Amino acid sequence: MRGIVFYVNDSLRNKHISIFDTTLRDGEQTPGVSLTNEEKVTIAHQLDKLGVDIIEAGFPMSSEGEKISVKKIAGAGLDLKVCGLARVIKSDLDSCIDCNVDMVHTFVSTSDVQRVSTIKKSREEVHKMAIEAVEYVKDHGIKCMFSAMDATRTDLDYLITMFKSVEEAHCDIINVPDTVGVIVPSAMYKLIGDIAANVNIAIDVHCHNDFGLAVANSLSAVEAGASQVQVTINGLGERAGNADLAETVMSLHSLYGAKTNIKTEYLVETSHLVEKLSEIRMPPTMPIVGENAFAHESGIHTHGVLVRSDTFEPGVMTPEMVGHKRRIVLGKHAGKHAIKQSLESAGLIPTDEQLNLIIKRVKDIGDKGKRVTDADLYAITESIIGTTMEGEKAIELKEVSVMTGNIITPTATVKAIVNNKERMGANIGVGPVDAALQAVTGILGDYKFKIQDFRIEAISGGSDALAEVIIAVKDETGRVVSARATNEDIVMASVEALVAAINQLLATRKI
Ligand code: KIV
Ligand code: ZN
Repeated sequence: MRGIVFYVNDSLRNKHISIFDTTLRDGEQTPGVSLTNEEKVTIAHQLDKLGVDIIEAGFPMSSEGEKISVKKIAGAGLDLKVCGLARVIKSDLDSCIDCNVDMVHTFVSTSDVQRVSTIKKSREEVHKMAIEAVEYVKDHGIKCMFSAMDATRTDLDYLITMFKSVEEAHCDIINVPDTVGVIVPSAMYKLIGDIAANVNIAIDVHCHNDFGLAVANSLSAVEAGASQVQVTINGLGERAGNADLAETVMSLHSLYGAKTNIKTEYLVETSHLVEKLSEIRMPPTMPIVGENAFAHESGIHTHGVLVRSDTFEPGVMTPEMVGHKRRIVLGKHAGKHAIKQSLESAGLIPTDEQLNLIIKRVKDIGDKGKRVTDADLYAITESIIGTTMEGEKAIELKEVSVMTGNIITPTATVKAIVNNKERMGANIGVGPVDAALQAVTGILGDYKFKIQDFRIEAISGGSDALAEVIIAVKDETGRVVSARATNEDIVMASVEALVAAINQLLATRKI
C-alpha cells in the first residue's frame, strides 16, 4: 500500500501483538457505568468472538458481586484467557486465585506522589510487597502480571529495579501504566526502550487518555518493544478513558502491518453492544466505529469516493474490514454525484435539468441548518419529476393509541394497513414513544429492522411545541433510510417518522 505507510516504522510488519482488554475492569470504572453480572458475561462472550487474547474480568476483592462475575467468566469456557486484578495484598491475591483466573494482575503505586500520599509506604516496603505478591501468585502455579502503577511518573532507576526484581521472582509479564495519561509518544518510546534494555520479560502498556494520547502512546510503546497493549472497547475507563481497542488494533494492522488475533469485522458490532450496555453514547465522529467514520457529505469527497473509495478514505482501512458501511450524507455540501446516486438507488432517474432543481432544494434545506433525510430527498424529487412513490406505501397508519402514567406500564396499540391487509398490534415500552414504536414493529411480521438513530427536537416553545422526530432505520441488508415527521404529539411524530422510514425501505420489497 502506498501513502502514510511509507513514514511508519516498518519493524512491526508481521509482528504479533497481544491484545489485553480491560473493558470489564478499567472500562467499568468509567464514571456512570455499572454493568450487571449478566451484562459482563455477555460482553466477555463478545470479546471472545472478537478474538481478544486476554481480558481483565474485574477486581474480585472490590465486592462480592464482582467476585461472582469474575468466577463466572473464568468458568464460561471461553477461548480467551481471563485475568483478575489484585493489589499486592494477600487477601486480594487470594480473592483472584479463588476465581480460577488464568492470570493475576497485581499492582502497586511506585511513583513518589502516589506512594507517599496514598499507600504511605517507603520505596523499600513497596519493593518487598511487590516481590512477595508475585512469588505468592507463582507459588499457586498461576501466571502473573505486575503493574508499577503511575510508572510514567516513577523515578526511572527505581522503576527498573522493581521490574528486574519481579522478573527474578518469575513474573510472566510486566505492565507499564501511564495512570494519569501524561506521557507523550516520544517519551513513551524512550521509556519502554530503557525498560526493555534492562529486563528480559514481556512488556505490556496501559495508557490513559487524559490528553487524547492513549492510542499514540500505546503505539509508541509497541514500536519500542512492548508486545502487549491494554485497551478497552469504545475507549472506556477512568476519567477520559483508556486506549481504544478499535483504534489501536486498526492502526497496528493497517498502518504498521502488524498482526493481532482480532477479527476486525466484529469491531462495530462489539462497539455497539458495549455502547448499549454501558449506556455511554459514542460521538458520531468516533474513529473506526462512529456513525460518521465512513460517511461523506461534501461534494468533492462524495464524488471522489463514488469513483474510487481511497480518494477520500484511508484505503488501508475500508468499512467492510471493520464491519461498517460507507454512507453518503446529503446536506448543504452535497454534490451532484451523491444526490444522483441516492436517487438512482431508489429507482428515480431525473433529467439533468430536474437534477439541478433537486440539488438546489436539497441545499436550501441544508442552508437552514437541517439534515436532509432520504424521505425529504424523495419528496423533493417527487414534486419535481412528478413520479410518486405514493402507490408503493407498504404501511398505511390508521390508528394509534397510548396509555401511560405512573401507575401503569406504558402500552400502545396501533392499527395499520400493511400490504393491503389490516393489522393490529399492541406492546409495552419504557415510555409511550417506546411502546408505540414497539407496537409498530410488532405488526410488521417477519420484516426485521433496527432503529439506528432517533432524534427528537421541540421546534417551537411551550408545552404545545411542535416535536420534530428524525429516525434512521436499518434493514438486514444494512441499508439505512432516514425520515422525519413533525407533530404536536410526540408519540405521533415518532410513529409517523418510523412508518415513513420503513415505507421508504420497503418501496422495493414486500413484507
Ligand atoms: O491506570 C492504572 O494504573 C491502572 C492499574 C491498575 C494498571 O488501571
Ligand atoms: Zn487504568
